[in-house]
Amino acid sequence: MTGPASLAGCDIAFVDDDADLREANVQALQLAGFTVAPFGAAPALLAEIDTGFGGAVVTDVRMPGMDGIELFRRLKSLDADIPVVLISGHADVAMAVDAMSEGAYDFIAKPFPGERLVETLRRAVEKRRLVVENRRLKLLAAATEEDGGLIGETPAMVRLRQMLRDLADVDVDVLVLGETGTGKEVVANQLHRLGRRRTKPFVALNCGALPENVIEGELFGFEAGAFTGAQKKRIGRIEHSSGGTLFLDELESMPLAAQVKLLRVLEGREVAPLGSNELRPVDLRVVAATKLDLGDPAQRRDFREDLYYRLNIVTLRLPPLRERRADIPLLFGHVLGRAARKFNREVPALDRAVERHLKESDWPGNVRELVHFAERVVLGLTGDLALPEPAAGGNALSLPERLGLIEADLIKEALEAHRGDVRATLEALRIPRKTFYDKLARYGISRSAFEER
Ligand SMILES: Nc1ncnc2c1ncn2[C@@H]1O[C@H](COP(=O)(O)OP(=O)(O)OP(=O)(O)O)[C@@H](O)[C@H]1O
Ligand SMILES: [Mg+2]
Repeated sequence: MTGPASLAGCDIAFVDDDADLREANVQALQLAGFTVAPFGAAPALLAEIDTGFGGAVVTDVRMPGMDGIELFRRLKSLDADIPVVLISGHADVAMAVDAMSEGAYDFIAKPFPGERLVETLRRAVEKRRLVVENRRLKLLAAATEEDGGLIGETPAMVRLRQMLRDLADVDVDVLVLGETGTGKEVVANQLHRLGRRRTKPFVALNCGALPENVIEGELFGFEAGAFTGAQKKRIGRIEHSSGGTLFLDELESMPLAAQVKLLRVLEGREVAPLGSNELRPVDLRVVAATKLDLGDPAQRRDFREDLYYRLNIVTLRLPPLRERRADIPLLFGHVLGRAARKFNREVPALDRAVERHLKESDWPGNVRELVHFAERVVLGLTGDLALPEPAAGGNALSLPERLGLIEADLIKEALEAHRGDVRATLEALRIPRKTFYDKLARYGISRSAFEER
């Protein structure tokens, strides 16, 4: 078979005009686990292949019409990162070596043992896979960066982005539930920006940041003289957000009195400023963020159940970062770039301590903690990672392990103070000699290192 072959999903495109050789090689490669698309001539491959090809090309050098070297050059101008392996007869070795200096991946002289080709191709295909994957991530990061959207390729995040697109133009109120730093505000912004309300204001109010007596005036507005200090009338944020989006952050902290009034506004879609009986219609869309699962009576405590049900038409749950660890590398790459631009620095190469921290931390502060970590990495402030550090590692170390670190420090201090003298150190620590030596062994402490030098 000489094609037409479909290259999508193939590891290898195999080009050889000799049908017997082609078939034998294709079979051998299939046995080795590759998916292979055979081609009888170079132009047939060129007609098929594009920069999205995720595999490697193997081609015979000597072919009628376009030879393998010319094919290599054409492929190189199409996409220099496609690995091309040349198979050449004895007479063409010099030509093939030249091609290698131009960037061909490898050449193999005929006759060759099957393993030789398989090994080269394993490496070539893996290399290509990484190139394609990196390009995909870059494109993705650039695309999401542009729309300020949520980065993440785990199923939960892909689903969430789809939900945001679906919900953006539906006028239902949305509750966003997630731990600190999981991206609740990003979600609220996206709901606003992806829908037709984007041309009107996005108005945010942090219900936890304002004193109780201020919050109602801010939300509902007031007439002049409505209360002491209300000298001029003021439009409330609800009214300001009309046609756009009202983002109520830290909803769980909203004072009870304001909750009652808000419920009335949500039901009637009308607002009366404090000190006025006039009801003004509002075109309201509320997105509210909370760290507590208000559907759970234990967590809801005195938050009004009726308001909760009124707002909970749709709840979007943001998973904590530790439940979608697969997103950490992509996210980190993204926030690292952001940090570098912010501080006008180069994106640094990652050292092992940084990588280990990425792998081992539980990220209790979620994406925000990752953002701050990236800023420290860009500024070179991660020297403290060289040693296991309980504070930075969150729950990375168990309690006994942490206590062990403290105990080891205390023993070292005592040894230091008594210059390695065992009797004095034992007295200071008030532990039996055997226990003392056991602990030295466990913590890898050398007593003699503390003797006077
Ligand atoms: N999926 C994501 N992709 C890109 N950036 C993200 C993502 N999630 C969060 N961020 C970034 O992390 C930081 C924290 O996000 P955000 O302020 O939305 O969190 P939050 O859930 O509102 O936190 P809090 O409850 O503490 O207010 C921001 O800098 C935001 O841009
Ligand atoms: Mg927030």
